[in-house]
Amino acid sequence: MTTPKSPGLAGIVAGETSLSTVGKKGLGLSYRGYAITDLAEQATFEETAYLLLYGRLPNRKELEDYRRKLVGLRRLPEGLRKVLEQIPGSAHPMDVLRTGCSTLGTMEPESKDRPQEQVADRLLAAFPGMLTYWYHYQRDGRRITTVTEDECHAGHFLRLLHGQTPEEMHRRAVDVSLILYAEHEFNASTFSARVTASTLSDFYSAVTSAIGTLRGPLHGGANEEAFKVIARFKSADEAEQAIMEMLARKEKIMGFGHRVYRVADPRSDIIKAWAQKLASDAGREMLFEVSQRIELVMKREKNLFPNLDFYSASAYHICGIPTEMFTPLFVFARVSGWSAHIMEQRAANKLIRPTADYIGPAQRAFVPIDERE
Ligand code: COA
Repeated sequence: MTTPKSPGLAGIVAGETSLSTVGKKGLGLSYRGYAITDLAEQATFEETAYLLLYGRLPNRKELEDYRRKLVGLRRLPEGLRKVLEQIPGSAHPMDVLRTGCSTLGTMEPESKDRPQEQVADRLLAAFPGMLTYWYHYQRDGRRITTVTEDECHAGHFLRLLHGQTPEEMHRRAVDVSLILYAEHEFNASTFSARVTASTLSDFYSAVTSAIGTLRGPLHGGANEEAFKVIARFKSADEAEQAIMEMLARKEKIMGFGHRVYRVADPRSDIIKAWAQKLASDAGREMLFEVSQRIELVMKREKNLFPNLDFYSASAYHICGIPTEMFTPLFVFARVSGWSAHIMEQRAANKLIRPTADYIGPAQRAFVPIDERE
């Protein structure tokens, strides 16, 4: 039997990018050369999205204009709202976004008058509305307006979700998480988007592919799965015992480990600090203690570290976000990175089409149907 050259393409350099560095010596995680720590501390998500999509940090006027532009792109076409109303309330929110993205592509396709940058901004602006429109309609038949005047993407989503002005701490925590989630080099969903773009397919198809790829628990779906585990425990001791049992059964603990990082995920400390702040503000210290104990056990037993998804989970929970919406939040952010990658792929395109080692039967004679057993 031939051994695959690199299962899961681990360690394979599959192309070039000027968008981000992940785990590179001396560079750590950076977006277009800016350290993630600086962006998370000093920038907003809208600035970060502009940086990724348009290649540089906006000045004050450009940022104001960009924010207004996004506000203007929040309204959903009636046809899309009708489609969203048809999606069952039992559907997973990631499927709602996947369908919403695909549907919008039939109504507002790319064209000379609607170039790729316009599509990228439109999707970025429209995703929170798509999700919350479906959510409120399916929960209590309410047809909400998906337009708010909140110029902050995180604030806009929280307003649509809760129908009220979000607490400042929640708004900024979600804003920071969106910065951290915005871009991460050739991760599975981005690669998926680039593969689709490399066939010269349209923008919406590439983003739809990416959403489907992000959905799985080994990728974006990990934040939802991580919280389902954390939420089961009432104390740190209980968590420790259960995690030990899960590890003994060789179960994976979602929110730990990473394909590229070997020692730590540089995003984790940033979101962990927010998770702690939110927990103490909400009087939910036990949630943080449980999470910390799981981190300690995973380090001790498996030498594994939390990735961004682990502490994002409790941070989102405290902000009142339903668990099944955790991965959609990842979409709200990562659509900026995906879009920038689609544009980068198109600018120097080469069809992505690897080969495989064949491990099936040797060539054999075809058996006519009446002669088969
Ligand atoms: N919990 C328990 N064990 C884990 C683990 C986890 N979260 N992550 C990795 N391991 C173990 C594997 O079981 C494997 O052990 P083995 O060699 O004894 O079989 C070893 O570590 C290597 O893991 P593997 O899954 O082969 O490495 P990878 O590079 O393919 O995986 C991930 C990277 C991210 C897919 C993996 O760490 C994982 O599944 N994590 C949980 C999902 C998650 O949080 N995803 C979000 C990533 S940002």
